[in-house]
Amino acid sequence: MSAALTVRAPAKINLNLGVGSIRPDGFHPLATVYQAIGLYDDVSVAEADEWSLAVGTHPRIDVSDVPADHTNIAMRAGRALTSFHGIDRRAAIRIEKGIPVAAGLAGGSADGAATLLALDRLWGLQTSDRDLLALAADLGSDVPFALVGGTALGSGRGEQVEPLEDNGSWWWVVVESEIGLSTPGVYREFDRLLGDRTATEKLMPELRSALVAGDPRWLAQQLSNDLSAAALSLRPDLAVVLADGRDCGALAGLMSGSGPTCLFLCSDARHAADVRLAMTERGYERVTACAAPVAGAHVVTYA
Ligand code: C5P
Repeated sequence: MSAALTVRAPAKINLNLGVGSIRPDGFHPLATVYQAIGLYDDVSVAEADEWSLAVGTHPRIDVSDVPADHTNIAMRAGRALTSFHGIDRRAAIRIEKGIPVAAGLAGGSADGAATLLALDRLWGLQTSDRDLLALAADLGSDVPFALVGGTALGSGRGEQVEPLEDNGSWWWVVVESEIGLSTPGVYREFDRLLGDRTATEKLMPELRSALVAGDPRWLAQQLSNDLSAAALSLRPDLAVVLADGRDCGALAGLMSGSGPTCLFLCSDARHAADVRLAMTERGYERVTACAAPVAGAHVVTYA
C-alpha cells in the first residue's frame, strides 16, 4: 500500500441484553448496555484504482470464515460512504483481526465502523458524526456502538446508542470457543424457545448505579443476557465453561451477545490474571484478560 491510514476499533460486550419478540422487519427490539473491551481489529486503507480487501492471518484467530469479497462489511462500508458523498474513489482495505470471528463480540461491526472512519479521514470527507452513525446503522445493528465505544445504552435493534456514565475500571476474562455461533441462528433459537415477550429495562437502574459507583461486586449481580438460553440450547457445552469460570473465582460469568464467547467479571487486574491462569490450567487455550471500557474507533497511524 502507498500512504495508509489505520483505524483501530474495539470488540463489544453486553452487560445486560434484553431481547423482545421479533419485529415485522425480522429484527428483535433490544434494551442493552454495551461496553467496549480491550480486544481490537485494525483496518488500514489506502487510495487505489480498484476496491480490494485483504484479511491478515492471526496465530489465534481463524479468519477462514471472513469473506474477502464485496460482501465483507468493510467493503460495504466503503461503498456506502462513497455513494453517500456521490464520489467515485476506491481503496485497498486490509483487516488485521484481533477480535475472534463469529464470537458474539461484534468483530465484523468493528471492521465496518473502522472502515467508515478510516476512509472519511483518508479522503478528508468531514462526514458529520450524525451521518457516520446513520451510515453505521445501515451496515449493522452493532456498528454505531463500535464508533462510539465506552459504555452506552443501546435501543431499537441495537443501532440507537446513548453514552452512559461509567466510572469503573473493569477487568474481564474472555474465554473464546473454537467453533463460532451464527447470530441469526441464535435469534431463531431464541424465538423457538421463548415465544412472545418484550424487551425489558427493569434491571437497568441498578446496573447504571453500579457503573456510576464503579463497584465490580455490584455490577456482577446485574449482568444478564436474554440470548444465553438460546446459545446454551445450541451449545450445551458452554454451560461447563461458565461453571468453570465461576469455580476459578470470577465474580460472575456471562455469555457475550449471541455467544459462544464466555465473559468473566473480575475485581481488578491482578484478579483477572489469576482467573486467566486458573482457566488456562484447566485446559482452556483461548483465554484473555481485557480492560474496559475502552475508546470507540480511532485513528492510530497515518503514514
Ligand atoms: O444487524 P446485524 O446485521 O448485525 O444482524 C445480523 C442478524 O442478527 C440479523 O439479520 C437478524 O437475524 C439478527 N438480529 C436480530 N435482532 C437484532 C439484531 C440482529 O434478530 N436486534
